[in-house]
Amino acid sequence: MITDAFDTGPTGKFRTLCRNYPDDSVYNGADGFRSLWGPIFYRGRANGSARLLVIGQDPAQTEAVTRRILSGQAGRRVQGFVEKLGMTKSYLMINAFLYGIYNQSMAMPHLNDAGILAYRNQWLEAAFAPGKIEAVVTFGNAAFDAWKAFKTTPAGQSVNVFQQRALHPTADKPGGPITRKDLLDNWNIALQHLHANLQTPDTVQPLALYGNNFTAAELPEIPSRDFPMGLQAWMRSQDFWAGMSSAPGTQRANISIEVP
Ligand code: URA
Repeated sequence: MITDAFDTGPTGKFRTLCRNYPDDSVYNGADGFRSLWGPIFYRGRANGSARLLVIGQDPAQTEAVTRRILSGQAGRRVQGFVEKLGMTKSYLMINAFLYGIYNQSMAMPHLNDAGILAYRNQWLEAAFAPGKIEAVVTFGNAAFDAWKAFKTTPAGQSVNVFQQRALHPTADKPGGPITRKDLLDNWNIALQHLHANLQTPDTVQPLALYGNNFTAAELPEIPSRDFPMGLQAWMRSQDFWAGMSSAPGTQRANISIEVP
């Protein structure tokens, strides 16, 4: 008998935001987005209990299937990060973009389009309204830019919590300028600042920093309580089971899934 916890869903303002969301006419860099897979809103506590707010970039193929953000490779890296802070439960994760990106250079210029910006800022306002968030971490440039844009609004100006900028969880692209060690050094600095600024973690524990690479324990399974009911354990404990379809000309729409 499986008795896995599951996400019972958003409440209050978060629930309203999941009902009324921007469609293709707002996400009008249409070819740049994977809009056919619909909006993917959040992961964690969309119920006013979150104390750590995580801002990512956009959902990828894995997230299109699990219907929660940061649930693939990037998500397991971020899960390890928040757990190092003793935040095992009381986090809310949102992305700068509601839809997956298919083409970065086509999508990115739309980061602060009026409808995209206004909707994202409503999520940020809803996150801060209960007055519980103690710290914010942004992963990647788009996330940081989204945060900066929020801070120029009246609601953003009234928020006075610690904010930490960190590299994106998959910034260490093969052959790129940022190595795994660069990423983990950056995250170690971010962890130390966040650890000092989070007053009420779920678990009080000494901070253990990263070494030169992720250990298995630093890539934990994502808790079942973060996902819709019935989601299979392999979907939250394995990476790369969902990827881009290789059928030429159909990659924006199609996702290829392989059960590990
Ligand atoms: N998946 C997400 O949902 N967000 C990211 O930033 C990366 C992967």
